[in-house]
Amino acid sequence: MKRLILLSTVLSLTLIIGACSELKDEKSPTQGNSTIHGVGFANAASENSHAKFLQKNGLNTQTCKSCHGYSYEGGTANKSCLTCHNKPDGPENCSTCHGTGNETVWKDPYGNTNSTVRSVGMHQIHVKGGSLGSPVPCKTCHVIPSKVTSAGHLDGAVHAEIRFDTTSVFYRSNAVYSAANVTCSNTYCHGNFNGGNLTSTMTWTDTSSTAAQCGSCHGDASKATLKEKAFPKTGHTAATVTSDCGTCHNAVVNSSLAIINPSRHVNGRID
Ligand code: HEC
Ligand code: HEC
Ligand code: HEC
Ligand code: HEC
Ligand code: HEC
Ligand code: HEC
Repeated sequence: MKRLILLSTVLSLTLIIGACSELKDEKSPTQGNSTIHGVGFANAASENSHAKFLQKNGLNTQTCKSCHGYSYEGGTANKSCLTCHNKPDGPENCSTCHGTGNETVWKDPYGNTNSTVRSVGMHQIHVKGGSLGSPVPCKTCHVIPSKVTSAGHLDGAVHAEIRFDTTSVFYRSNAVYSAANVTCSNTYCHGNFNGGNLTSTMTWTDTSSTAAQCGSCHGDASKATLKEKAFPKTGHTAATVTSDCGTCHNAVVNSSLAIINPSRHVNGRID
């Protein structure tokens, strides 16, 4: 009984301190637990974790500031977020929701890791790079917010905005992203260059292993050998197909047409 009275005193104090509207939006503190948010709010493994709560509320941490302080240093709640989120800007550090880039799977801000989900899609292979090419920076495909509150970032739009960077060596003015179909068409990387498959369309959520096979960006993927697959449909004389591609492109491929240096392939120039 004594505990209950103490709890309600703490709660009314918090309300008086001036965050009643926010409190209504928060986990209702009625479970009789000792914390205002309910059991498990600070526990990452709990179904009631603050991460899960935030995910259901558009990852908006601005409402937390009224009690936890305007720099998340503790405020009237006297509980700092910075004890755990100790990077610059605390919870607003980009890595809180987007990871550090060293993860082995791509996790979107809502915790999804399945590549058939559009917010996951083919991020990992693009952002990490692979056997075919170097990592592609975020800004090649997105506007990069300078802070969490930058316009257009957490704007409640259903899907992330795709904007191709006009200053990139990969930029092609007729490249388009279709949010309706989750496809990219006419991008440099997938064939929009002299001798490439100019108008190829790629589906961001296509997880099949043949999606970006040899010949899909230049040449003809239906052919039998790697040499025939990769051989550009235009530009080369027929004679070059019989010679070893590595004779001329020896910085990129070896005699068995393995890409020996991904940073020289799909890099914006013919090596
Ligand atoms: C109405 C005021 C209020 C608001 C708004 C509020 N909190 Fe809290 N929060 C508290 C108080 C008070 C405590 C300490 C309660 C306790 O531990 O008994 C607390 C504790 C916590 C804890 C546990 C900290 C620890 O070290 O144990 C976490 C995590 C937390 N809040 C996250 C959030 C998040 C995320 C938001 C925004 C979505 C938020 N809070 C909004 C008042 C608030
Ligand atoms: C006791 C340590 C602790 C405290 C205190 C804490 N957090 Fe967290 N927070 C975590 C952990 C751990 C995760 C990662 C959860 C996961 O990966 O599933 C996390 C995740 C998050 C996320 C990422 C959500 C997502 O999945 O994209 C946000 C945003 C966040 N916290 C904000 C806050 C805010 C705001 C406060 C203070 C009001 C706070 N946290 C206090 C430990 C804490
Ligand atoms: C509190 C969580 C959180 C933090 C911190 C955060 N983001 Fe985001 N970010 C999101 C969410 C949620 C989306 C998806 C928004 C949407 O669908 O419109 C997103 C989207 C993005 C996108 C995709 C393009 C867009 O705007 O839709 C980029 C790029 C991005 N964030 C970069 C950053 C950078 C850089 C920082 C650090 C300055 C950062 N984010 C900090 C949650 C966060
Ligand atoms: C090759 C292009 C490309 C690159 C590079 C790229 N993205 Fe994306 N991103 C996409 C596509 C396509 C989507 C799906 C958009 C949609 O849903 O319509 C997406 C979606 C997202 C979302 C999903 C937001 C939501 O709605 O939940 C976030 C967050 C995001 N990207 C962040 C990043 C960050 C951070 C980087 C760099 C580490 C990055 N992206 C690099 C193409 C890219
Ligand atoms: C005799 C030298 C030579 C050989 C052999 C050769 N290439 Fe090329 N390749 C070039 C030159 C020169 C260019 C640049 C043409 C230009 O600037 O338009 C080029 C360009 C390319 C391009 C870019 C698209 C284009 O047409 O410009 C691809 C892809 C390519 N070669 C693949 C191959 C493959 C696959 C083979 C083996 C089947 C091969 N090349 C054999 C000289 C050669
Ligand atoms: C994701 C699309 C894509 C795929 C798949 C692809 N290429 Fe390329 N390739 C390119 C692009 C783009 C160029 C244009 C030159 C550049 O930017 O490096 C290129 C150019 C080349 C060249 C010319 C040398 C150079 O400059 O890079 C060779 C040789 C080549 N590719 C071989 C291959 C082989 C062999 C395969 C299959 C193992 C393959 N490519 C698969 C996109 C691709």
